[in-house]
Amino acid sequence: MNKKKPDGVGYLAIDGGSPTLSTWPPHPPRWGVRELAHLTSMVGQESLFYWKGQQTAALMEAFQQHYPFRHIMPCSSCTAALHIAVATAGIAPGDEVIVPPLTDMGSLIGILYQQGVPVFADVEPHSYNLSVADTEKKLTVHTKAFMPVHFAGNPCDLDGLKDLAERAERRIVLIEDCAQSWGALRKGRPVGTIGDIGCYSLNDFKHLSCGDGGIVATDNDEIGARLQPCGDKGYNRLKAVRSPEILAPNYRMSEPQAAVAAAQLERLPEIAQSYERIGSHLNERLRDLPGFHPPQVNPDDFCTCWFYLFRIDPSAFRCSRDEIVKALIAEGVKAKASYTKVPVYRWPVFQQHAFFDGRWPVREMGLTEMDYREVRCPVAEEILDTSIRITVHEGMDEIFVERLSAAIEKVVRYYAA
Ligand SMILES: Cc1ncc(COP(=O)(O)O)c(C=O)c1O
Repeated sequence: MNKKKPDGVGYLAIDGGSPTLSTWPPHPPRWGVRELAHLTSMVGQESLFYWKGQQTAALMEAFQQHYPFRHIMPCSSCTAALHIAVATAGIAPGDEVIVPPLTDMGSLIGILYQQGVPVFADVEPHSYNLSVADTEKKLTVHTKAFMPVHFAGNPCDLDGLKDLAERAERRIVLIEDCAQSWGALRKGRPVGTIGDIGCYSLNDFKHLSCGDGGIVATDNDEIGARLQPCGDKGYNRLKAVRSPEILAPNYRMSEPQAAVAAAQLERLPEIAQSYERIGSHLNERLRDLPGFHPPQVNPDDFCTCWFYLFRIDPSAFRCSRDEIVKALIAEGVKAKASYTKVPVYRWPVFQQHAFFDGRWPVREMGLTEMDYREVRCPVAEEILDTSIRITVHEGMDEIFVERLSAAIEKVVRYYAA
């Protein structure tokens, strides 16, 4: 390809020019005096057990400040939270749960362990969130739940999903996967509080972290009464009896995790604002570039941009998406092709239906005819083939985000056909 000098911006770094970004700001310290205060108070405790634990109580109180749920169960991960949610929603063998194919394995694990059947519905081309129209197409008499994922901090169309759930013949439980969307608001309401159950992640890579951890919460009293036993071996701590009526794993959070998580929640508004500011800045600055599609956020929503995933129109460029990524990296941008390489249903465990030592009992028992080798979600596949992911974090100030925008603009304009 001919190397040309882009107007007024110099040669691309990949062609020997100077990189637009000479440094990448380090992540500001994530844990500090607040965490230390909680941990210091914790080491004076007699027990580090979650039930009636002071740190767990502090975590629940801090969480309720932002998410005013009546029933809350802190647990070991969001995978655990989602498994508890599926169990409390009463997913029985063969029941179907509609999920998007752009997500983490953690969204699927609980469904499969409860012998439910994940049914993949396609996503919207620019919000990357579950499509209500395709969810409707995938709805059957076996559908028991929808599990929308608020992708990279961008709230889903919960009104559409709720409306669809209400019109269905069978009661549909709406489980919101909020792992990537701490602080995000749908029309002013915190994500997770609009459906029936909200699930949150505190793993090391999320807006808030205690190393690993999760929270599952609901306002539904019937579901709420089951949260704790479903994450604690079936033991009902409130009744103080060890007489399990259900099979449930041990997904308890411990006091050290709760201590750190409680402190992190105190910083939620500040952290959420930073991520929102960065996402809005990039969107505003880049939206008119040729062949560039910014992530689409509903104007009434507050998106806490966990990472910035934009799409390109391949016909508008003289080179491939992967060459654009290489040029961005040369400019000093932390860029990578796509979110996952392929949609979840194309992972080997789904393609081989190898969930339980190479077998899938619900299919063997005739409770489902699902064949993941035949599943296609064309929009999700196109997104993964045409998107570029930019890492962002709360330590990026306005000046840096402007330079980051300039680096992206330089590369996009250069390769535009
Ligand atoms: C959308 C989504 N759901 C669930 C999970 C699982 O979270 P955890 O690692 O806390 O189990 C993740 C983690 O990356 C996620 O991104």
